[in-house]
Order: sequence, then C-alpha cells, then structure tokens
Amino acid sequence: MLPMDALTQGALWWVAESLRGSVMIIDRNERIVYANRGAYDVCKLDPEERSLVGLPLEEAFSYTGFRRDISPVLRCLKTGEASSNNAVSTNIGEYVVDAAPIFSAGELVGGVALTYNVTDHSRLNQELLEAASRLIISEREREQSRSALDWVIESSPMSIVIVDREYRVTAANHVFLRIAGGVKASDVIGQTYDKALRMLHVTGESSVVRNALNGVPQQERHLVGDRVYDVSAFSITNPATGEIVGAIAMGNDITEKARMDAELMKLDRLNLVGELAATIAHEIRNPMTTVRGFLQLLQQKLELEPYESYTRLMIEELDRANAIITNYLSLSHAVSEQIPCNLSGLIREFSPVLEAEAVMQHKSITYTLLAEKEIKANEAELKQLITNLVKNALESMEPGGAVQIRTEVQEDAVILTVRDSGSGIPRDLMLKLGTPFVTTKEHGTGLGLAVCHRIVERHKAKIGVESSTQGSTFSVRFPVLTRK
Ligand SMILES: Nc1ncnc2c1ncn2[C@@H]1O[C@H](COP(=O)(O)OP(=O)(O)O)[C@@H](O)[C@H]1O
Ligand SMILES: [Mg+2]
Repeated sequence: MLPMDALTQGALWWVAESLRGSVMIIDRNERIVYANRGAYDVCKLDPEERSLVGLPLEEAFSYTGFRRDISPVLRCLKTGEASSNNAVSTNIGEYVVDAAPIFSAGELVGGVALTYNVTDHSRLNQELLEAASRLIISEREREQSRSALDWVIESSPMSIVIVDREYRVTAANHVFLRIAGGVKASDVIGQTYDKALRMLHVTGESSVVRNALNGVPQQERHLVGDRVYDVSAFSITNPATGEIVGAIAMGNDITEKARMDAELMKLDRLNLVGELAATIAHEIRNPMTTVRGFLQLLQQKLELEPYESYTRLMIEELDRANAIITNYLSLSHAVSEQIPCNLSGLIREFSPVLEAEAVMQHKSITYTLLAEKEIKANEAELKQLITNLVKNALESMEPGGAVQIRTEVQEDAVILTVRDSGSGIPRDLMLKLGTPFVTTKEHGTGLGLAVCHRIVERHKAKIGVESSTQGSTFSVRFPVLTRK
C-alpha cells in the first residue's frame, strides 16, 4: 500500500465504497488488494462470506464473466498506460471500464479498475445513437441520393418525367424538354402528364403512367414527330409504408431499332414472297408449254388457216408471259450475273420504253445523264429498277407532270435519282416502303418497291427517299466499279 495519511485514506475509502460501480485494486502480481461493495455486487458475492482480497484477479473473473484478454486493468499493468471508457461486453452484461496504473517512486506497483454496468443504459444509448445516426444518415442519404438521382435523371439520354400521385408532373429532364420543342421545366411541372404529352404532340392515347400509378409497370410506343419512342413507366413507392407516391416514365428513342425491325420484316416477307413466287412461276410454265405445243399443232392444220394470225398472237403472248417468268425467276435467284455497265448508256438505250409509258399517261420525262463511270450490274435488273421507280413517279403526278431522271458521279459512287413533282409519300408510309404488298393504289401490287429494294441489295447499292408535298425523290447509290 502507498503511504497515505489517514484522512485521505479514509475519505478515499468512503468514496470507493459509496460508488455504485465496482472498484478493484490489484498489485502487479494480479492479486486483489482492494474491492469495494460494488465489486462484490458484480461478483455476486457476499463480503461477509467470502473476501475477494488476496485472491488472484483471475478468480474474480470466474465470478464476473470478464476475461483476461479483454481486461483493461491487466492491459494497463502490461503497458503502464491508463485508459478510460473501455466498453467490455461479457455474458453477464455490458460494462464500461476505466483503468489506471499505479506507480510508486516511478515503479509500476499495480492497477485500479473502475467498472460500471451499463447494460440497460448502454443498450438504450446504443439504440438512441443508432436511431439518431439512422436519422442523420437518412437525411444525408436522402440528400445525397436526391442529388445523385437528379444527376442521373438530368444526364440520362432517355427522356424522363416524374409524376406524383395526382398524375401531375414534378420533374422533367432536359431530354423531355428538348423533345417537347424546348419548353421550360416550369411550363411542364405541375401539369398533368396528359398535358405534358400533348406538348410532345404524341399521337394516340397513353396509359402507361396511369397504370404505373396503380402499380402495374408497363411499356408503350409513342410516335413523336418522325421518331419512335419506347416508354416504360414504374411506380415509385415510399419504402417505409410501401404506398405508391408517384411514377416515373422513361422514354427511349428507338427509331433506329424500329427501322431495323421494319427492314428485317421486309426482308423476311420478301424472301417468303420470292420463294413462293418462284415456285408458282415455275409450276405455271409446264401447262403453258403444253398449251404452246397444241397451238403450234393447230397452226399446221389447213382448215384453221383463216385463224393463223390468232394462233400466232397466242403463241407470242405465251412467249411473253414465259419471258416475264424467266425474268422473275432470275430475279428471285440469289445471284444474278453482273457485268460492267454504264448506267447512263443503259438509260439512253432504254428511254423509248420509259417514254412510251409517260406518253400514255400524258406526262413526260427529262434526262440529265452525267455519270460515265461503270458499275457492276445486271442490266435486266437495272431496267426493272428504273421502270419501277419511274412508274411510281409517273403515277404520283397529275397529267402534264414531268419526271426527272438523273445520273451523276459522287466520290466513288454512281447516283441515280428519279424525281417527281407528285403528291409525296405520307410519313407513316415512309417506314414501310419496300415491304411487299404495301400499296395505296387501287390496282397496285405493292411489289414494285420491294423488287427495287431486292435489286439494290444485290448490287450492294443503297436506296434512299426524300419526300414532301412538293414531290418525291428516290436515289440509288451504286459503288463505282474498280478494276484491279
Ligand atoms: N414516287 C412516289 N410518290 C408517291 N408515292 C409513292 C411513290 N413511290 C411509291 N409510292 C408509294 O409507295 C407505295 C408502294 O409502291 P410500290 O411498291 O411500287 O407498289 P404499287 O406501285 O403497286 O402501289 C405506293 O402505293 C405509293 O403509295
Ligand atoms: Mg409501283
């Protein structure tokens, strides 16, 4: 024991005894030198029956549930350093321990530990702390996630609109505002979603957002101008209550994909048509050959001489039909023979046939043939392509109209353009052009452009169309033939 005057010793003893926590003093051999009432409480011992003084601290541990490895007082015996507010968790509860080394004449002689049971108090504290931190975190998180969300919404390439439960817009990103023709956010916010859609000039009804508000996520397609949008809407729920508080609608520009889908569908149908027609054409030839054979036989009958001109005509017509079939079959074959070919020359040669068609309709054709470079092509197919484009052009115009045919070289391409001053092509038809059986004409087949597309494809060329109410221009871009 340290030398200490009686007053101090008495006072300290009183303080120690009246503390609600446990105080234990140990010497450097870990033997208990002093234990207050609180220490006996912790050990659940009666000081009258069993004294802690003189026992190894280890033995006190066996009553308390404390362990060597987490004992702050043993640690301070080792390190010579005081520590406070050590949280010690044992199987009999939660404690806070202050421990300090005791030095005498500069030498470590022992240690003292002050221990409080904080089980309930600390649990409460802990919970309070957690709750508070949750609050703080959620405040902060909310702010962070809010700004993160704002950022995502703003920088998204999709058009995004958020509505509240009353179907009113609470946020709209710049993509939406741009699509709406540059309206301001303040023009949209507070409006109903329907009204916002009207700003986009969306054609047709929209129900996705209403359904999302009812908890049914959905998708729909919108046509805005000449762009196609895929709109999905989801409900936004309050995570605490699960109740729907609004909905978010996201629009994705899928014009290119829609175009590709349409192309694919065209190709599919075209293949089908091609195969079907090829089979039928082939089958028709056989009975025609039979008929032709008998007609030839009849031609030789003397008694039928007066009708010779009829039979000749019939045979000629059959031959023509057969030629058409042959042509068609060559068209549906995967490979057609392609040779170097001068497009301008071909058109000059072919112009009387085009001319005849125009004159019949009281219309005319003008030519500007500038391209003299060769392309690799199948002449029969080129004629078919030009015929089909010119026929459509003529048919789109009133009598008196003129079709302009033009060829020119642009970079490494020979361009053929067929321009008319006709009625133009409605926008919704533009996407479908080239799909077999798409026609707006009473006696149309809807095959003309489909065949054109097929021919263009086989010539590794590209076909494009521009159209307005002033007329339409079809242009085909052939790669210039490069000789090695
Ligand atoms: N030059 C054009 N001007 C206006 N409409 C056109 C033109 N070319 C094609 N079309 C439209 O495309 C449709 C499909 O053309 P096409 O495949 O040649 O079939 P068809 O001529 O038998 O109708 C036409 O019915 C017409 O509506
Ligand atoms: Mg046609």
